[in-house]
Amino acid sequence: MRTASAPGKVILFGEHFVVHGSPAIVASIDLRATAIVELARSGGVRLRDGSRGSPAVRAAEYILSRLGASAGLVIEIRSKIPQSVGLGSSAAVAASSSAAALHLLTGRVDHSLILEASYEGEKIVHYMPSGMDTSIATFGGSGLYTRSDGYRRLDIGLEEILVVNTGRQRRTGDLVLRVREFSEKKPELFKQLLDEVGRMIMEGLDYLRSRDLEKLGRLMNRNQEFLRMVGVSSPEIEEAIALCLEGGAYGAKLTGAGGGGCVIAVADPDKLDKIIPVVSRRFEVFRVRLGVDGVRIEQP
Ligand code: PMV
Repeated sequence: MRTASAPGKVILFGEHFVVHGSPAIVASIDLRATAIVELARSGGVRLRDGSRGSPAVRAAEYILSRLGASAGLVIEIRSKIPQSVGLGSSAAVAASSSAAALHLLTGRVDHSLILEASYEGEKIVHYMPSGMDTSIATFGGSGLYTRSDGYRRLDIGLEEILVVNTGRQRRTGDLVLRVREFSEKKPELFKQLLDEVGRMIMEGLDYLRSRDLEKLGRLMNRNQEFLRMVGVSSPEIEEAIALCLEGGAYGAKLTGAGGGGCVIAVADPDKLDKIIPVVSRRFEVFRVRLGVDGVRIEQP
């Protein structure tokens, strides 16, 4: 038996525009998915609860095929990451199950193989994943992500934020399509927004470096305006943002694909706990640590 865990993620700036070439700032969070993998008598890979089509199963199958092994595996998943709300749950599940399977069969942890396996697993739920979630689940930390260069780790210096779950699940692909339609209908405006977001990312990195949370918050509010313009906000998101600001956050925005899902908010560390009761009247709230370890083998 082997146990491994992997973190979820938040996008601090740049979602959607990242699909069209600009960078995004991303960070792992201390909500993790854990996979417990055991050898089974019969061949094939299955989940202990009998469900099928999981990224965890697909990722472990990929490991078996790359090793040329025919072992049977049973996987049990225990996850603290809410599903289908933009926190990278499926990538974390795929990374932890492939790492546990690989370590059980070979005694090794090979991050590039785990990254490949997780990507295969994530394809089950995201038709064409950008690779951002699987990079964070595998390597952890925080940094910049671009489609052309992938994940570049950077210490962003921000330690904690609030994550608000609106509870409304949605499909990333539908929202990516909505933004593509906007870009085709209004190409000039979209190009302007894309350039602005590119500049915003550089500004964001400066404020992170200087730990200027107030300016960082204002920049998040501006990023949210752009996301609103391209049509990926929702009434729940706006309500969650309003509650965060009412509670004293410097800024808040949707994170991930939008259309529901989660909102993030920044505030001084001693303010975070004061915002929680204001927001939790309506929504589930997590105070999360950023930049945590990527996939790792756990003691059983
Ligand atoms: O699947 P989510 O909610 O974490 O969103 C992914 C971020 C997008 O930029 C909307 C899509 C992508 O593949 O980068």
